[in-house]
Amino acid sequence: MSQQKPSIIHIIRPDDWHLHIRAGEGLKSVIPHTARQCGRAIIMPNLTPPVINTEQAGIYRQSILAALPENTHFTPLMTLYLTNDTPVEEIQKALDCGFIAAVKLYPAGATTNSDAGVTDIKKCYPTLEKMQELGLPLLVHGEVTAAEIDIFDREKRFIDDKLIPLISDFPELKIVFEHITTADAADFVTQSSAYIAATITAHHLLMNRNDMLVGGIKPHHYCLPVLKRETHRQALLKAAASGNNKFFMGTDSAPHSRQNKETACGCAGMFTAFAAIELYAEAFDEASSLDKLEQFSSLNGPLFYGLEANNDMITLQREKWTVPDSYPFGDDQLIPLRAGQSIHWKLKS
Ligand code: NCD
Ligand code: ZN
Repeated sequence: MSQQKPSIIHIIRPDDWHLHIRAGEGLKSVIPHTARQCGRAIIMPNLTPPVINTEQAGIYRQSILAALPENTHFTPLMTLYLTNDTPVEEIQKALDCGFIAAVKLYPAGATTNSDAGVTDIKKCYPTLEKMQELGLPLLVHGEVTAAEIDIFDREKRFIDDKLIPLISDFPELKIVFEHITTADAADFVTQSSAYIAATITAHHLLMNRNDMLVGGIKPHHYCLPVLKRETHRQALLKAAASGNNKFFMGTDSAPHSRQNKETACGCAGMFTAFAAIELYAEAFDEASSLDKLEQFSSLNGPLFYGLEANNDMITLQREKWTVPDSYPFGDDQLIPLRAGQSIHWKLKS
């Protein structure tokens, strides 16, 4: 039976469960994009230096609140950057402060600003024990870092070598496998217990590695984990639109200045926050699953984190618009995904 494609949809306001907004003037430039779309966002702690304790997270949170446009109702959900030395007592402090929602594990060297990350997860076991006890989720950048492992295999190897043993040692620790990019990860999460969930970015639902490498190298399509082959994109789309409540929206929008992207050794990260929900709508539209968008963008995340869904709605219209060539980023500019090209859904204010 052929269905007519909707031209307008109303969904509960989404949340972004994985977001980079940086600090200082850059923060001021990018946070309004997310605050316009989302009720809440999980704020990644990979600043330089990283946000490693509750006090620093509190200061960072204040700077975010101060950077919000007037009359916006947006809640930053803060995270701590796990290190080899994160004290066990910090976990209780984090929980007690009321504004920290999770702890982020970066394997040292895995991605942007991860040098202070964890070199051996066993060093963190007492801390993870406490997180399991208190129900504070662990968010993982799921890639191994060993030099000899091919970059396209790093997520799969992380599952086999790191995640499976970790889950077996902490079966009741809530874990979000962040920005999954492979069929292996989607299958693994689907088959795991209710303690394991995953975020999926819009760009991994919309693009494969050809979009980065065919017809010339595209620095603005380079991110970590790197885009994978089409079969993986298809598997992610299937998982996101499956209605399974383990999968939810996490843009991993990661702004970098134009010069830091367009250079001989460019930074990893795509900026998608300006049109996050529209990009997801495109992906779900492609999968003929717009009816599953709200669950993915607005319901599954709060359910996993033990929060209520947002209490207002947004409207999305099928409408083609052209993305600006750049957006301001402090004194610099950043190049958004689809710069100068079109997006086929538009958020109505
Ligand atoms: C992120 C960043 O720039 O902070 N980059 C990216 O490519 N996603 C870090 C990360 O989430 O890996
Ligand atoms: Zn990220």
